[in-house]
Amino acid sequence: MSQELWSAIDQYITEHVVRPEPVLDGSLAAAERAGLPQISVAPNQGKLLYLLARMIGARNVLEIGTLAAYSTIWMARALPAEGRVITLEFDPAHAVVARENLERAGLNGVVEVRVGPALETLSGVPRTPPFDLVFIDADKKSIPEYFEWALRLTRRGGLIIVDNVVREGAVLDAGSEDASVLGVRRFNEMLRGEQRVSATTIQTVGSKGHDGITIALID
Ligand code: SAH
Ligand code: DHB
Ligand code: MG
Repeated sequence: MSQELWSAIDQYITEHVVRPEPVLDGSLAAAERAGLPQISVAPNQGKLLYLLARMIGARNVLEIGTLAAYSTIWMARALPAEGRVITLEFDPAHAVVARENLERAGLNGVVEVRVGPALETLSGVPRTPPFDLVFIDADKKSIPEYFEWALRLTRRGGLIIVDNVVREGAVLDAGSEDASVLGVRRFNEMLRGEQRVSATTIQTVGSKGHDGITIALID
């Protein structure tokens, strides 16, 4: 299997099954024009976030790592009228693009972008009502700390979803000194002993290469 084939299949799936609204494609185009890294979730992964949010009847969503708000828009579109998203972004230039994309998507009143290092802005995130879904997709070295926060902030029956937990298999490298790999490995050590969630990790291939996503349900 090759990257070329994975990307072609992702495109085929996107056209036939995912069928994203034009505003979603528009937000990716705006991100590219602004020179942002092309590390948004793939369309079929965005749709998975949307479906999971709908399946649990999510109203309040927290995202750590906004970039251009592509995943944010997918999740926001899954919520009922009174639903809200708080999304945390370190880079002010990314937040500018995100806010423009949210404006174009008509979601300015639904999504709040908070700028700063997430380990700092998380202290200011309201604890009530608890979140129904937390999507962790910022710097990988701090995934364990973000997961701890998410455990505190999410209701029973809610979901914590963590992106980029396989990274082309780098997760297996016990001798790695890469901060991202160490973060993911520390996260998996946490999960091994964690009684508060039921979790699985699915490896993925597609337009974003070989990676994986962890889904944890709060018991
Ligand atoms: N969730 C987005 C992609 C996020 S990419 C999507 O799928 O559409 C990761 C983002 O996390 C980048 O914009 C990066 O600037 C941001 N980030 C990196 N370190 C961070 C930190 N310490 N706090 C908050 N955001 C951070
Ligand atoms: C990176 C971050 C992501 O969230 C992602 O999906 C892919 C890559 C990165 O920082 O390299
Ligand atoms: Mg990601």
